[in-house]
Amino acid sequence: MAQYQSFPDAAGDSRTLEKLKALNLPPLNGRTFLDVGCNEGFFCGYAHFDGASRSVGLDRSRGFIARARCRFPQCEFAERSWDQLPDGPFDVILLASALHYADDQPALVRALMSRLSPDGLLVLEMGIISSPEAKWVKVKRGIDERFFPSMPMVKELLRGYAWKWIGPSIAQDGDPVPRHVIHVARQRPTAYLLMQPPAYGKTTIAEGLFRRADIPVVSGDDVIQRVVKGMRAAPEELRALLEADYSPFRLDETIRKVFAAGKGRSLVQLWIEEAGPADFAVDAYVPSEWHDLVRSGLTDAGYMPVSLYWERAGTSMQSAEAITERADAYYASLADSASQGFDGMPSTYSGGARGFVDEVDMAADRLRVRGWAVDEDGKVPRYLSVRINGQTRMVDVFEHLLRHDVQKHLGLDHALCGYSFTIPLDPAASVGGLGAIEVRAGNDTERMGPALPIAGSLAKRLAGGRR
Ligand SMILES: C[S@@+](CC[C@H](N)C(=O)[O-])C[C@H]1O[C@@H](n2cnc3c(N)ncnc32)[C@H](O)[C@@H]1O
Repeated sequence: MAQYQSFPDAAGDSRTLEKLKALNLPPLNGRTFLDVGCNEGFFCGYAHFDGASRSVGLDRSRGFIARARCRFPQCEFAERSWDQLPDGPFDVILLASALHYADDQPALVRALMSRLSPDGLLVLEMGIISSPEAKWVKVKRGIDERFFPSMPMVKELLRGYAWKWIGPSIAQDGDPVPRHVIHVARQRPTAYLLMQPPAYGKTTIAEGLFRRADIPVVSGDDVIQRVVKGMRAAPEELRALLEADYSPFRLDETIRKVFAAGKGRSLVQLWIEEAGPADFAVDAYVPSEWHDLVRSGLTDAGYMPVSLYWERAGTSMQSAEAITERADAYYASLADSASQGFDGMPSTYSGGARGFVDEVDMAADRLRVRGWAVDEDGKVPRYLSVRINGQTRMVDVFEHLLRHDVQKHLGLDHALCGYSFTIPLDPAASVGGLGAIEVRAGNDTERMGPALPIAGSLAKRLAGGRR
């Protein structure tokens, strides 16, 4: 029997050590390895040497298998055809210089791929003829005639798998077909991740790119809303988090809360269930500190995550806090203008100066008064005065309150006619009954208007003095 593989004690036709280097095998430590057409077991021995947890060789030649068992008793060898492959799964499968012996080469590749573990790798070392066409070419060699594929045919052969041309292998005497090494793995479905902040254009990109390419898009917002509405199942803890303080306008806060509570993977699982085991895109804001967690969840579930990042174009959005702060500041500035009158602004109001005292609250050291007042033009008067215990005090700084009821009632063109002020009282001084209180409004401290009427229910209550 001819010597094919080369060992230190036996030189064969093949330069086996160089072939081993060209194969570019992944680290085999702790992994399972199968060599199909293993010959005398050189590569099985290497797998064992590299720490493989199991190293199996298969060859139909009784003589080669007998020698392999002798050389590598730590490995398992089976004298049988590749028509009966062991079940596996195997982390790494090698088919070197043997595919051309198969009667149905595509069928053998498919059978080998089916024996791989989910992340397994098929290492193919094979002859490839030079042709731009996809075809099988019968090649006369020194020993026989065999069919070899062109590169375009290899592409067809491996369609549907993830594969990479690794490089040329060693040349073999008497074999005119150049050898190549190709690594083949199962293709994972791709999960395209659009996780940028709100208003970055995620949905526009999802629609324009993925929907157009018939790649399903999972909308994170939509999934959450359906869970909250009871239209979609979700683990109880996740559902409770999504439902608590739910608002369709604050979904970014909800998502942040879910991830902070350690339930991010549970949310990712919902996306996966929506998508199924095929390529899909996710349109869902996720705070950047959780992006790695999303990716690892998808990787563990068998997907290949691909994250998309881009700069936001146009005017940037403000945070909800910043918007609230600016709006309040603006409104306060309106209040200031109102207190100074709106010069030149026509008013529909023509009812004369009016006002009311709605609430009086006196403690030992302070007096608080609330009500509303407008001048002859329907504007907020500049001053208020309060007379208590025979003394009048001017109030030139007071809070302006919205009184839509008064606006409606008087037909004003604004609602900012309420007032509220607090003045300190001398706790030592004796203060008479509250019934003596008078509040006036006016734009000139020398000519304040008449005492504002006191609301009926309050007037009765005021008779008793300090409360
Ligand atoms: C050219 S040798 C390559 C050996 C080894 N893979 C290497 O690259 O060093 C081809 C090997 O495939 C084996 N073989 C051919 N047809 C086979 C089949 N149908 N089932 C299993 N082994 C087969 C042969 O016995 C031989 O050992």
